[in-house]
Amino acid sequence: MSDATVTIDRYGVMGYPVTHSRSPVIHRLFALQTGQQMQYELLQVTAEKLETAVRQFQRTGGKGLNITVPHKRAALDLVDQVSERAATAGAVNTLTFRGSEIHGDNTDGIGLLRDLNVNLGFSLQGANILILGAGGATRGVVGPLLEMQPQALRIANRTVDKAQIIADHFDRYGPISACGFDEVPVSEPYDLVINATSAGLSGAVPPYPEAAISETTFCYDLSYGLNPTPFCTWARDQGAAKSVMGWGMLVEQAAESFEIWRGVRPDTAPVLKQMQINA
Ligand code: ATR
Repeated sequence: MSDATVTIDRYGVMGYPVTHSRSPVIHRLFALQTGQQMQYELLQVTAEKLETAVRQFQRTGGKGLNITVPHKRAALDLVDQVSERAATAGAVNTLTFRGSEIHGDNTDGIGLLRDLNVNLGFSLQGANILILGAGGATRGVVGPLLEMQPQALRIANRTVDKAQIIADHFDRYGPISACGFDEVPVSEPYDLVINATSAGLSGAVPPYPEAAISETTFCYDLSYGLNPTPFCTWARDQGAAKSVMGWGMLVEQAAESFEIWRGVRPDTAPVLKQMQINA
């Protein structure tokens, strides 16, 4: 086959706003590393145009899409087949186009697990876990966290009802409960505190429960940035054992999507290193 006849498989990320997404860089590095012929585009799409944009991408030969904020729940309505983990999370972040069908999956939870277990050496089994926030990010990670058999998982949120709805939805999967920030029980130290609020995006530090942090607590922010996030700074100030931003989860969820699409698992370590250096 001559070069002129080679078609490059197209992928992309759809979100709004999406201009600051690192996904194109990560997928280009994966493609380079594994010798895959593919391109990955940044697609800024509003909620009203999501369905049209997804179907057009599919019609014009696109192979797969990542779906990001704020479309992860809405994209679930567009899929013909859904993985169990995406159905449980009630959200998809990975679409794969197979003929005329759309397959939906969610790689956020496994991305977090891999970062915690493999990259950071944190054991979730028997851990006492606190999640701050009860939005889409929390929904994506609660199921996989419960599968790792923690001792307990508590969700604390500014709006308690939203935390309770998630706890009710997931309580058949493991020991989960909900409360407000000012009701977090602190009789036992937390091994892991995860920030899944979007408060840091505006630089805000909500009244997180200070007593939940001890010198043995591992703190993880699902957000990431050029500088330590407000949550990471707050956690360090409370004396946490460690506070980590979500770069590893970002790279690991991308690797999982890449494997779904290409059947090849990239080595995440060099890509993660590069992302953090260039952060
Ligand atoms: P995502 O998909 O990133 O999770 P989301 O579904 O809009 O986004 O959820 C945002 C989460 O951050 C919610 O838990 C929200 O709290 P409420 O449910 O009370 O709205 C939380 N959040 C955002 N800004 C916050 C702030 N300034 N203080 C406390 N919580 C905040």
